[in-house]
Amino acid sequence: MKSTAEFMNNAMKAGLTVPAFNVPYLPMVEPVIRAVVDQDSFGLIAVARLEWIKFEAQGPAAVMEEFKKWNEPENVRIHLDHVPVIDEDNLEVDYLSIIREAIDLGYQSVMVDGSRLDLEGNIEATRRVAEMAHAAGVPCEAELGAVMGHEAGPPPPYEELFESGMGFTDVEEAKRFVQQTNCDWLSVAIGSIHGAVSGALKDKKKVSARLNLDHLEKLHQATGIPLVLHGGSGVKQEYLLAAIKQGITKVNVGTEIRQTYESALRETGALSSAQDAVYDRTCWLLKDYFGLSGTRERVVGEAG
Ligand code: 13P
Repeated sequence: MKSTAEFMNNAMKAGLTVPAFNVPYLPMVEPVIRAVVDQDSFGLIAVARLEWIKFEAQGPAAVMEEFKKWNEPENVRIHLDHVPVIDEDNLEVDYLSIIREAIDLGYQSVMVDGSRLDLEGNIEATRRVAEMAHAAGVPCEAELGAVMGHEAGPPPPYEELFESGMGFTDVEEAKRFVQQTNCDWLSVAIGSIHGAVSGALKDKKKVSARLNLDHLEKLHQATGIPLVLHGGSGVKQEYLLAAIKQGITKVNVGTEIRQTYESALRETGALSSAQDAVYDRTCWLLKDYFGLSGTRERVVGEAG
């Protein structure tokens, strides 16, 4: 079977992006896959550690089991999102064991998030994970810079964050980071923020983030590998589409479909209605937001 790394490279060359849909609730897997298939697109089903700690994804094994029930290998792959070395509550995580477990379960790409460490610590943790993942033929994503929002409590005022470039990925560091870690894809901080995951803030509408496209261009030139945009929900569309042309080859979307699922379930009490709402929202994202309908073959090739 062709690797997700190959699909990402195809997408980068074609100026397309691969959306990664986070599934904090297991019943979201089916409607997301159905939408990706119906839109003739390619995408990833993703789960981050915090989605089984703070939500109801249960764990990498449960998500894999659900994925296998609905898997359409010509359209979707499964990805392990954020496994932090230090988590959003500042606790140390046994990240190597979690990533090892996911690789053994058959996850087709993994992410280590050492962004709360200093540069050398992040390089060391990422290098170890990249080595382990590559030995199993699995690509490894890493993060450099600070894509905020997952921490408890309100994030800094957005305009202040954007104007100051707070936490933005440093260009020279990114170049060195990629060379020294051998990571395949790099999550960069260029203005997006993650949707909140704690307390009442998690139900709020996200700010409409902008992206610093000049900064992205420099990162793209310096690294030459597929770059990843986290916090994809609610980014202003004109910035998002321009960023995709400038090397953002994967966009993570969580809050947008999580809030859709949660509010439909609250309003109707019916799981099938919540699933239908996720299906509709995912179709809208693929077709109207990303403009990815009908692009599957350009990413996967003729016989994926
Ligand atoms: P949003 O929840 O803001 O879409 O971000 C998702 C994400 O980046 C998961 O890694």
